Amino acid sequence: MSPSKRAFDLVVAANRLPVDRVVSADGEVSWRTSPGGLVTAMESVMRDRDGAWVGWAGEAGEAPEPFEEQGMWLRPVALSEDEVKQYYEGFSNDTLWPIYHDVIVGASFHRQWFTQYEKVNRRFAEAIAEVAAKGATVWVHDYQLQLVPGMVRELRPDVRIGWFDHIPFPPVELFAQLPWRRAILEGLLGADYLGFQRVADAQNFVRACRQLLGLQTRGDTVSVSRADDSRRVRASAVPISIDFKGLEALAKEPETRARAKEIRESLGDPETLLLGVDRLDYTKGIGHRIKAYGELLAEDKVAPPREVFVQVATPSRERVEAYQQLRAEIEGEVGRLNGEFSRIGAPAVQYLHHSYPRREMAALFLAADVLLVTPLRDGMNLVAKEYVTCRYDEGGALVLSEFTGAFHELHQAFVVNPHDIEGLKQGIMRAIETPDKEKRRLMRAMRRRVADHDVQRWAARFLENLASAPERPAPAAPS
Ligand code: ADP
Ligand code: F6P
Repeated sequence: MSPSKRAFDLVVAANRLPVDRVVSADGEVSWRTSPGGLVTAMESVMRDRDGAWVGWAGEAGEAPEPFEEQGMWLRPVALSEDEVKQYYEGFSNDTLWPIYHDVIVGASFHRQWFTQYEKVNRRFAEAIAEVAAKGATVWVHDYQLQLVPGMVRELRPDVRIGWFDHIPFPPVELFAQLPWRRAILEGLLGADYLGFQRVADAQNFVRACRQLLGLQTRGDTVSVSRADDSRRVRASAVPISIDFKGLEALAKEPETRARAKEIRESLGDPETLLLGVDRLDYTKGIGHRIKAYGELLAEDKVAPPREVFVQVATPSRERVEAYQQLRAEIEGEVGRLNGEFSRIGAPAVQYLHHSYPRREMAALFLAADVLLVTPLRDGMNLVAKEYVTCRYDEGGALVLSEFTGAFHELHQAFVVNPHDIEGLKQGIMRAIETPDKEKRRLMRAMRRRVADHDVQRWAARFLENLASAPERPAPAAPS
């Protein structure tokens, strides 16, 4: 069998491959870990499983040949420059992303974007059909690929299809705004099982099927009844997690610990190091956090070099206008605070607009006394779970927005509503001032939760739910 014609019992499909292809100015090609929580989680699930991963290599143009990486077979899908603009930046990130995140910024609706979304979803479905063995398990991910389950079912009725939503699923009042709502729900209902981050997300989906498609629903199950297709589809919550053991081991390595110490020293050994780590996205509440911190600086409740705030803002979706505006706003605010409150050698806010290797991230988590996670809406927020995982010393404190999926699991965090700036300021101060002994108790409980509910358990639960989904697909494979 030629290497490009291999067939797999497990096929994962996500908009991005776990690695992006990067070409330097002198034409040298390298592969770099792709941004975001989906890749962090699925990379550790797929490592050393004999499976295929279908996804985009992160640049416009022809797709590279399939290749093997850490035991996974990567099958790149090509996107043209127009498709990157209309399917990825347009429909995925300027239509769906705002609608699925409470319309924090307005959504744009363009019929041509949806046409491209359909076209690219079909290309993904065809690539999946090509690499899936007879009766394979196909695991589709996230909002960029919502039509894929239905398309795969048409092409390959023999396979079992699951879809997992890494982001929130919106209330029906917001979802209903989408002119393509019917196509999206029907696309998703092509799956045998649908997994969501929170119970509320799964309920929103089931309600949308009932109210917008008029389908019968019972508990977490939707009945699909068409002349050619009569099935029941289950939609339930399986919150995602991280590779607790792997990340904790990395945090414990002497090199990581030495780096954490070095980071603190280079920041002037502050009494309290506060840290934020987010993709530079308007959902993450970075502006609210900076506003609250600015007021604490103005009120002299915090002051450099005694308190130091480091904000890592990871570059993201840089050609989408809302992201460009956000960057200008955040960088303007950081500049303003630094102008007003920094001293020579002691900036009020250290702002870093870069991606870092995993060890550097673990060292930052280990160095930070307080992690600020203040999204206005976030499916899960793996950064919160990574922080508690790295704190094998039981040090540190987590300030956590109630609008994250993580809030439903990490009950011992200092919980905040980021819209309530006074409450946010109080949450930050409580995280700084609570006695260490009490903070260790809280951290211990959160670590136990993440250790018991790690990414392997998440994947096992998803795959079990998929395997035991109400009805098995028809057995015949195409000739
Ligand atoms: P999202 O999927 O919306 O980006 P998550 O918090 O769930 O949010 O996941 C973000 C992932 O990206 C985490 O694994 C985090 O460690 C990683 N990450 C975030 N910023 C950086 C960065 N600057 N460098 C490297 N990894 C980063
Ligand atoms: O889950 C949210 C998500 O869109 C993932 O699909 C992806 O891992 C991450 O955010 C990063 O976004 P992008 O792939 O657009 O850079």
